Amino acid sequence: MALIAVVLSLVCAVTAEFNVVRHASQAPRSVEPVVIPAAQFVVPITSREPRRQSKKSNLASLRAAASSNDTAVLEGSDFDSQYLTNITIGGQTFKVIIDTGSSDTWVTQKGFNCFNLTGFPESTEICGFGSDGFDTTASPTFKAFPDVSFNISYDDGEFLTGPVGFDTVTVGGLSVTQQEIGVPNLAAWQGDGVNSGLLGLAFPDITAVYNTMDPSKASDANQIPYDPFFFSAVKQGAVTNPFFSLVLNRGALTANTTEDPNLGFLAFGGMPPVAVEETAVTAPIQGYSATTGDPSNQDAVFWYYTANVGYTFPGSTTVVTQNNNTILDSGTTLNYLPTKVAKAYNEQFVPKARFHKGTYYVECNATVPAFSVNIGGQSFSIDARDQILEDSTDANGNAVCISGTQDGGEDTPDTVFILGDVFMHNVVSTFNIKTNEMTITQRKIY
Ligand SMILES: *[C@@H]1O[C@H](CO)[C@@H](O)[C@H](O)[C@H]1NC(C)=O
Ligand SMILES: *[C@@H]1O[C@H](CO)[C@@H](O)[C@H](O)[C@H]1NC(C)=O
Ligand SMILES: *[C@@H]1O[C@H](CO)[C@@H](O)[C@H](O)[C@H]1NC(C)=O
Ligand SMILES: *[C@@H]1O[C@H](CO)[C@@H](O)[C@H](O)[C@H]1NC(C)=O
Ligand SMILES: *[C@@H]1O[C@H](CO)[C@@H](O)[C@H](O)[C@H]1NC(C)=O
Ligand SMILES: *[C@@H]1O[C@H](CO)[C@@H](O)[C@H](O)[C@H]1NC(C)=O
Ligand SMILES: *[C@@H]1O[C@H](CO)[C@@H](O)[C@H](O)[C@H]1NC(C)=O
Repeated sequence: MALIAVVLSLVCAVTAEFNVVRHASQAPRSVEPVVIPAAQFVVPITSREPRRQSKKSNLASLRAAASSNDTAVLEGSDFDSQYLTNITIGGQTFKVIIDTGSSDTWVTQKGFNCFNLTGFPESTEICGFGSDGFDTTASPTFKAFPDVSFNISYDDGEFLTGPVGFDTVTVGGLSVTQQEIGVPNLAAWQGDGVNSGLLGLAFPDITAVYNTMDPSKASDANQIPYDPFFFSAVKQGAVTNPFFSLVLNRGALTANTTEDPNLGFLAFGGMPPVAVEETAVTAPIQGYSATTGDPSNQDAVFWYYTANVGYTFPGSTTVVTQNNNTILDSGTTLNYLPTKVAKAYNEQFVPKARFHKGTYYVECNATVPAFSVNIGGQSFSIDARDQILEDSTDANGNAVCISGTQDGGEDTPDTVFILGDVFMHNVVSTFNIKTNEMTITQRKIY
């Protein structure tokens, strides 16, 4: 999930003190993989929910804003999903979306006002949160942050605004004191009755707190970037190593699945307990130019966990597969790759995928071509099971399937491509927020 707040940052990103590391090399640099120790804190990921419509439109809007002619829309499937974890804030526990594609941690405030997408008041159930919200008055540790506001908007019209505060936040045994969080009291949300907010794990520059009491006055000029949860944890010495790892299991998701008890791990400070292969690489996270918003190694600012990637599959030599604007996003189910790459790959299914209204459909029993993602000179394979997803049923009750690899738009520097859960199911992704490097480790087949 990448938030529209980032669009503001494209115009004028403010450099936060944590992100001064620069990568001078132009080409993807391969370094000896860092040996990642076992994690200090591990939290199992226990359930997921249908993905929210806003996810794809957020990213679409990000592109649209970056280039007004780029209207590529990210398609998703009905049975897309989110990975959730418990979070405890001021002693109150909620389920939130784990998102490497945004940076704010927020839960709705108890008594929040629900609105529909055009700003008309609705009953709170319409917003579909999984709880009544966070009761700031019942938290002995909550402190308001006066005179500022939180404001996140979604391209499809969803938005959250309201106060900001500080409280003790715990995820998987890792506790941060005085963590800045959004506690929106105004929400236009199309929830599903499960999550109550979001845990943003990306960089400080794309946080959405503004130096104004009036959320409608949010702008780049008054953005006050702050340290997201994991950045605070590192600064406070609550975790020894400055990296976190994500393991997202391929779930047994069927049309009727709403809960899955074993979906992986979020691990702070090291590796989660999963079986891995020896294939691993440590590569720089690609930064962006604060002035143009394009991938850049000069005066780079960091927003997402962006990788320099290439792809290998039958026929891959016929297209340019190298791309330096591809993010690893736990909040997106499918891979969204450059038009030519997606086309060339989808033609290799037997029978070939069909492109209809922006989506590649495949026979549910199609033969899946091999696919691997190259990062820093290493190759990480994607299991065939991740490349065909049951999407819906047709009029005759037969399953309709889509490809795990979809068209993410023309390959321009301002288009953000996504390696979603289709890729992340196959690796342990470890993000180092101090060195601005990611270590990718191939998982054993499971
Ligand atoms: C959009 O396309 C038009 C016509 O092709 C061109 O004149 C204009 O410069 C483009 N705008 C952007 C932002 O690329
Ligand atoms: C998450 O929190 C709920 C409510 O407190 C609890 O029932 C559940 O066991 C927790 N799950 C995990 C994995 O800790
Ligand atoms: C919001 O509610 C108003 C008043 O009922 C209605 O006119 C409007 O169409 C609704 N908007 C949406 C997006 O449903
Ligand atoms: C959030 O900020 C934008 C400007 O960036 C503004 O247009 C919008 O109205 C704000 N949302 C709310 C609910 O105030
Ligand atoms: C899913 O639920 C529907 C409606 O309850 C039911 O008809 C269908 O058989 C279920 N499918 C599976 C695979 O359990
Ligand atoms: C990103 O890729 C484009 C196209 O290959 C290239 O022009 C640009 O220099 C690259 N940027 C960086 C920072 O590597
Ligand atoms: C694949 O499924 C289609 C129906 O969707 C069927 O006609 C075809 O025979 C199946 N092919 C194989 C090899 O099972």
